[in-house]
Amino acid sequence: MKSTLADGVTWVGFVDWNVRDFHGYVTARGSTYNAYLIEDEKNAVIDTVKAQYADDFLARIAAQIPLDKVDYIICNHAEPDHSGGFPAALKACPNATVVCNAKCQAALARHFDVSDWKFLVVKEGDTLSLGSKTLQFFDTPMVHWPESMVTYYMEEEILFSMDAFGQHYATSYRFDDEADMPEIMQEAKMYYANIVLPFERPVGRALEKLGGLKIRMIAPSHGVIWRSHIAEIMAAYQGWRVSKPVKKVVIAFTSMWNSTRNMAKAIAEGAEEYDVNVHLLDMADNNNTTFVTDIMDAAAVAFGSPTLNMGIMPRMASALTYLRGLKPKGKTGVAFGSYGWAAKGSEEVAGYMQAMGMEFVCDPIACQFSADAATLAECREAGRALARVALQAE
Ligand code: FEO
Repeated sequence: MKSTLADGVTWVGFVDWNVRDFHGYVTARGSTYNAYLIEDEKNAVIDTVKAQYADDFLARIAAQIPLDKVDYIICNHAEPDHSGGFPAALKACPNATVVCNAKCQAALARHFDVSDWKFLVVKEGDTLSLGSKTLQFFDTPMVHWPESMVTYYMEEEILFSMDAFGQHYATSYRFDDEADMPEIMQEAKMYYANIVLPFERPVGRALEKLGGLKIRMIAPSHGVIWRSHIAEIMAAYQGWRVSKPVKKVVIAFTSMWNSTRNMAKAIAEGAEEYDVNVHLLDMADNNNTTFVTDIMDAAAVAFGSPTLNMGIMPRMASALTYLRGLKPKGKTGVAFGSYGWAAKGSEEVAGYMQAMGMEFVCDPIACQFSADAATLAECREAGRALARVALQAE
């Protein structure tokens, strides 16, 4: 495995091949926790790894330099997948000073006993000379947490971008041009949809700020390092940031005795009369992670659940609750569902959609028990209306 980014810059992270649940995010392709060593007159490490992998991380550093020669460990982000290794690292590297911003220092103090840690607190635009090399720090609040910052290696034009531009993607390759690009872009999109989507304005501010830098390489905290497809990932972020829609209709449902399923299929049939991409997802067989990724760039959506105990079925409630927290923008849709004696399911689904600011092509479609011909016709018509909305996307 090649792990050299530039002369004196080495990847010292951990590849987590088998992580499958990242607090609810289904990481089907695992992940990496990237950390980097920069060797100069002073030696700096950028970020750590999850606490349980600190030994591997320290062994990678020790393969390059004695651990007592580590002068700085930079904390770009206090979330424990990157800061968890700090206690072990500071024990093993007795001469290391923690470099972070004031918010990060406060956050670290809430996670760990920092009473004997040495800190160098930096602020926006500050530089740190390592001898012949210089690091510069930029705050990127809410990408992903309030204290998030990035580190820029000025001479080599490498941006250590922390969570931004990351992917949950385990690979023995370190660089974008070595691995499978369609897989990487799909994982970057999934990462954006599940982690970054609520932060449109902070992402906009960060992109504007970082857009002024000369960048030869983007080294994020997860996944591969971008060196050949920087323009592509930057452009993708600009599109995802504003949830730029494509000509796609996503129909997601749960069903009890196939009535709501038949309604979903009828909506799909109506939409398929037009030249749009139609996705039909039974949420009993799909997870929330891929669901929200599919929704992110859909122009139109249909969500359905039968009534269960005067509410909706748990899988749909889980999916919609997760989606609502991610604040998707600019969607038009329809709610639907069958019922036995009270049409509560479709109403509750519509309530979720309303809470996400969605527009509707029609009132919720509900039917008692099996969907009859009139209901299915109504569903087909709703599908056509959704497709006409989707056709307006670029
Ligand atoms: Fe990868 Fe927000 O931590």
